[in-house]
Amino acid sequence: MKLIVGSDHGGFKVKESLLETLRADGHTVIDVGTFDEESTDYPDYAALVGRAVAEGKAERGLLICGTGIGMCIAVNKIKGVRGAVVWSKKTAVLAAEHNRANVLCLGARVLSKAEITTFSRLWLKTRFSSGRHLRRVKKIAALERGGEQ
Ligand code: RB5
Repeated sequence: MKLIVGSDHGGFKVKESLLETLRADGHTVIDVGTFDEESTDYPDYAALVGRAVAEGKAERGLLICGTGIGMCIAVNKIKGVRGAVVWSKKTAVLAAEHNRANVLCLGARVLSKAEITTFSRLWLKTRFSSGRHLRRVKKIAALERGGEQ
């Protein structure tokens, strides 16, 4: 899969290790930074990743900050993006299966490196189940357009 990954300073170290893992798993991965632990603003990276996914330049995106929350709030401002914070195997699977999340938001200060790897892999390999969930995802898209559901 073609992926795009970004983090702020809080997620930098985990991002580096996740990049290695995802590439070893056979994915093509674009790294938009940050590239060191100097303090940065997470919305900048959420914008780069979210726009690339919305424009089809990458199939899916992964964002890491301290909690995953700031990245998720920011990336969901971009039309076409369904960003999801996950914190367990179950939420990682359901974010793909039910919500068709195309950006995963992870917290380096609340999850271990191993958890972040596990949740990312699970999310990447889980397919959208469609059916009633497609109807719901379409309603989210209608909200983005500001129209009636
Ligand atoms: C940065 O200190 C921190 O606020 C950020 O990494 C993230 O946790 C925000 O949601």
